[in-house]
Amino acid sequence: MSQVTHTVSFVGESSQAKVDSGASVLQAARDAGVDIVATCGGRGRCRSCRVKVVEGTLPPPTLADIVQLGDQEVREHYRLSCQLRVNDNIAVQVSPPLHETAFQILVDTEVPKKGLTVDCGVHKVHVQPTLPTDENDATSDLEEVLRGTGLTPALSLDTVRRLPDMLRQSSAGLTITTFDGTVLSLESGDTTKQAFGLALDIGTTTVICYLIDLISGETMATVPGLNPQAVFGGDLMSRIAFAMESTTNVRKLRSRLIGFINEQIGEACSQGGIQRKHIYKIVVVGNSCMHHLFLGIDPKFLGCAPYAPAMRSAYACAAREVGLKVADGARLFMLPLVAGFVGADTLGMILSTHLEVGSKIRVAVDIGTNAEAVMGGQGSLLACSSPAGPALEGAQIRCGMRAAAGAIERVSVDQDIHVQTIGGVPAVGVCGSGLVDAIAALLDAGVLTTSGRMIAEGPLPAAIDKRLRTGKDGIAEFVLVWAGDGGARQDLVLTQADIRQVQLAKAAISSGVAILQHHMGVTDGDIDEFMLAGAFGNYLGMRSVRRIGLIPDLPPSRIRFVANAAGLGAQMALLSESERQRAELLGQRIEHITLATHPEFQKVFLDAISFPEEVAAYSESD
Ligand code: FES
Repeated sequence: MSQVTHTVSFVGESSQAKVDSGASVLQAARDAGVDIVATCGGRGRCRSCRVKVVEGTLPPPTLADIVQLGDQEVREHYRLSCQLRVNDNIAVQVSPPLHETAFQILVDTEVPKKGLTVDCGVHKVHVQPTLPTDENDATSDLEEVLRGTGLTPALSLDTVRRLPDMLRQSSAGLTITTFDGTVLSLESGDTTKQAFGLALDIGTTTVICYLIDLISGETMATVPGLNPQAVFGGDLMSRIAFAMESTTNVRKLRSRLIGFINEQIGEACSQGGIQRKHIYKIVVVGNSCMHHLFLGIDPKFLGCAPYAPAMRSAYACAAREVGLKVADGARLFMLPLVAGFVGADTLGMILSTHLEVGSKIRVAVDIGTNAEAVMGGQGSLLACSSPAGPALEGAQIRCGMRAAAGAIERVSVDQDIHVQTIGGVPAVGVCGSGLVDAIAALLDAGVLTTSGRMIAEGPLPAAIDKRLRTGKDGIAEFVLVWAGDGGARQDLVLTQADIRQVQLAKAAISSGVAILQHHMGVTDGDIDEFMLAGAFGNYLGMRSVRRIGLIPDLPPSRIRFVANAAGLGAQMALLSESERQRAELLGQRIEHITLATHPEFQKVFLDAISFPEEVAAYSESD
């Protein structure tokens, strides 16, 4: 019997998909080239892929629909597209998380220039060459241009093709751009003041493009954006799993990323009032998977033991080779990787925090879907990575969302729970910092035990007690915001399962640090400085991170938020060749500690799942 097919249409999109009966709407969207964000990779554990069924038979909701979307949205015909099976011709309205469009991405607009000498390796010189005149002279246009400069040409064929006309038509001479003594490009006229570079910080969640003046060191524009690969999964493993399905998928992941970065470059150029043909140097940091996808290397072997990357050393090539639309001869530099899950972003973080300098014990942790921890001191530099998962970014949390307008970002407790949202608008969900605050508040209020269990009864203030209930799926939940409070459309809850997700994430991060301490033989009290990097880290409440045991219980004076340290490292390597070379040397010096096979890890991890009994009452000056 032949397979029955149905048509899935997407409101507002010109393309449709014909799929076999039983295929998911998410699959149909991918076939049709329609973007639907699938944060959990299609496992029914988030709400990012929801669509509204506007035509055709509305199937009954699945348990995942009810749990993730709630009664109200289910009644309004919303369904999770990854769970919605096609058994009829249907039309759906893709429901982008509109309230998440104004997300917060932490960027740093200026490289701290203290102690940094601008020495980017790019030089421009203006020349007034003479044309070949004597047919008896054995010479060429290019030789005349370079005469007396001592430079080696490494020009693109396209530039050589344009040279004869350029030379004869430009009465204002030519500008030669070089990198490290090699000619990168030739331009008509005097463009010596136009020399720019890009630092790219490619994360699983966000991509940040910094446009920098290579002469003054000034940041001309910073363009942040969400990684467009998110439609194929929110975390690294979902992304790798998608890549493993076929080489076509690898190409899809790569072309989306490169296309998006080219758009960011265009935006940065228009903000900075410059032309992309004057961008000559690019430095890229990113985790190992993003590094591979950016270069077009299949990341499938990063997804299985022994998780070996295709290469670890620093890599340089022509920017055009990877498809970036910049100056013809622009050079691209990838900072080195440390291991399969400790990437060039970690190198960038070490570079900007100078973690290898001095004898003090210093720790830096970049919290993302994968958390990288580095410990420096006593002449050693140790690094590890922990799979924190996307919970701390608000993903796979019942009412979780990215840090955007309407996200609960702060939670406090007295006789009741109080919340503060980003932008002061009605609450629509809870982001990572709100989640950590909420759990700290529930621990303080006695709603959560140190094992992470929500207690069903006890001597709680009445207003708090009322918020504890059993959800439709039979799981305990705590109502952070009641429908109607401050304009909220529905009850916003924190479930027992959400608490477990955060416990697993914080245990992964803190046990990674504990293993590094174990290797270096230092206690919590020996840590002189603990730095939290990354977009998430910088929005956290200092007491809350200590209260839930995400970091050791250190005095506030020893804890520092270091913003987007990886991006800063990329900018430093862009502006200074000595910093870029320092990164290459650091790459060879770091000792990578593998947690999964570490004999102590299981025990340390299990111990770290519980919450601390209490937190020290430091004053802010401690
Ligand atoms: S629930 Fe469908 S992608 Fe997460």
